[in-house]
Amino acid sequence: MTLKIKVIVASTRANRFSEKPAAWIFEAAKQRANLDVELLDLRDYPLPFFEEAMPPGMAKDQYSNPTVVKWRDKIRDGDGFIICTPEYNHGYPAVLKNALDYTYFAWARKAVSFVSWGGAGGARGVEQLRLVAVELDMVPTRWAVHIPNPWFIKDVSEIDTDANRASAAALLDHLTWWAGALKAARASAS
Ligand SMILES: Cc1cc2nc3c(=O)[nH]c(=O)nc-3n(C[C@H](O)[C@H](O)[C@H](O)COP(=O)(O)O)c2cc1C
Repeated sequence: MTLKIKVIVASTRANRFSEKPAAWIFEAAKQRANLDVELLDLRDYPLPFFEEAMPPGMAKDQYSNPTVVKWRDKIRDGDGFIICTPEYNHGYPAVLKNALDYTYFAWARKAVSFVSWGGAGGARGVEQLRLVAVELDMVPTRWAVHIPNPWFIKDVSEIDTDANRASAAALLDHLTWWAGALKAARASAS
């Protein structure tokens, strides 16, 4: 079974670090034979600050804004997600929360893993994201990659350490397991 995995670049500021870990995990995921991997950069989806008249769950994920429709369709297409996110003030970027809020059913019953960075490897932000994921009816994996002190990292090759490679392998193993189990379950339920 081929699984569609979307790698989401979750910070959009100038001079962002996020491109490096996203490129790194994207390449690692692409090595897996059974994964069809696509990079989704939030810069390419300039969503308005949430302004819909109805919550997505009540609106059945129907939107008129073409950027929102494009985003929803990409999320609909995914079986699993790897969100690459910094920690901002012990949370996660507002632009990511906005993108998560903008659809509901497209996320539901799918798996999500995290690659994060920061002083504590971005772990505090990821813990909050796991709570958000559960409310979106997703399955967040235990396994993640946490990259400490990104401000010392100048090149993507510096992310490719033994420890990070081992974490990425575990993340991909478990994301694949959950994404496959949930895809089969979604198919048998419909
Ligand atoms: C608004 C803001 C808040 C931040 N808060 C934290 C924080 O709480 N913990 C932390 O470890 N790093 C924090 N940082 C530093 C980030 O880890 C660092 O700037 C990182 O490069 C951000 O990822 P980005 O470059 O992809 O935006 C913060 C950075 C910004 C811009």
